[in-house]
Amino acid sequence: MGLRVGILTGGGDCPGLNAVIRAVVRRSCLAEGSEILGVMNGWRGLIEDDVKPLTRRRVAGILPRGGTILGTSRVNPQDGPDFVPRIRATWERHRLDALIVTGGEGTLRAARDMWHEHRLPLVGIPKTIDNDLDGTDFPFGFDTAVNTVMEAVDRLHSTAESHHRVMVIEVMGRHAGWIAAYGGIAGGADIILVPEHPFRISRICELLSQRQRQGSAFSIIVVAEDAHPHPEENFLDEAAEAEIYRRGRLGGIGFYLAREIEARTKIETRHANLGYVQRGGAPSAFDRVLATRFGVKAFEMVLEKRWGEMVALRGSRMACVPLDDAVRKIKHLDEEIYHVAEVFFG
Ligand code: F6P
Repeated sequence: MGLRVGILTGGGDCPGLNAVIRAVVRRSCLAEGSEILGVMNGWRGLIEDDVKPLTRRRVAGILPRGGTILGTSRVNPQDGPDFVPRIRATWERHRLDALIVTGGEGTLRAARDMWHEHRLPLVGIPKTIDNDLDGTDFPFGFDTAVNTVMEAVDRLHSTAESHHRVMVIEVMGRHAGWIAAYGGIAGGADIILVPEHPFRISRICELLSQRQRQGSAFSIIVVAEDAHPHPEENFLDEAAEAEIYRRGRLGGIGFYLAREIEARTKIETRHANLGYVQRGGAPSAFDRVLATRFGVKAFEMVLEKRWGEMVALRGSRMACVPLDDAVRKIKHLDEEIYHVAEVFFG
């Protein structure tokens, strides 16, 4: 007998979500009698009984589209006292056999809890532009975001050069410096600042002035949204810190950094925050292929009843890892990558 499998997309959206949805549906077409049900807006769809059948026809043409046709939210299934019973009611009403949860750290942590504490039969798929999920070499979404950053850095390079300015480019990544490091290396940034390495403003200004003396009349700095000044050289007052490092919503370090650099070096400095542009657009070829492989594998994990596990990329192969391993800790920027970035500072 065929299976009835729900799929949801939770947390911040990213390129490749539609590719993964399509892949799950297309793989299910090979398992006779199976049906895929789209759960709208992450966990909220199960709480509010917002579930729609996903047919092969419904997913036709969505592979290259950004965003998610299912919508998303950051609703946690354990946050409301009646959420779990409501999820169970929706589950029974639609006679679900399993759930595929596509998400980043928050969504997959909730999935792990729903499996451990409530025995909801589910498997996970990793997506995030931040690349901060442990257990997989890469999620999908990261590669496209890095390409977007690279393109922006290229564009900002030419205007910085024309005006002989320092350009500070702020990028996302939450508490990990992956987007900044990859985007900065790919775009040829002169300085890259990441959360893993608190920065010294005096050193940055020294490098910029030295570049100027040596005839480079412009400079590019890529700064991650959670990069911090070294405590010994903190130039941010309390109000600025409260504004930049908000819980669950970072942003603003680029502005304060640019202001400080200009004040100290007297070199004209501008900033640009790339923001949500990094989450939008068509997925890269790498992300389309990875999301498609994840979707196919996740449906096969459902057939094998690998509950509480997540599909992962290990080297060049698909693998299954316990959700526990994926969400135990944040995957911080690899030191080897930072070392490469550092070679080009100044
Ligand atoms: O996790 C993805 C991400 O885009 C982070 O890089 C960023 O800090 C955060 O989400 C922004 O979240 P929201 O969509 O809630 O503003």
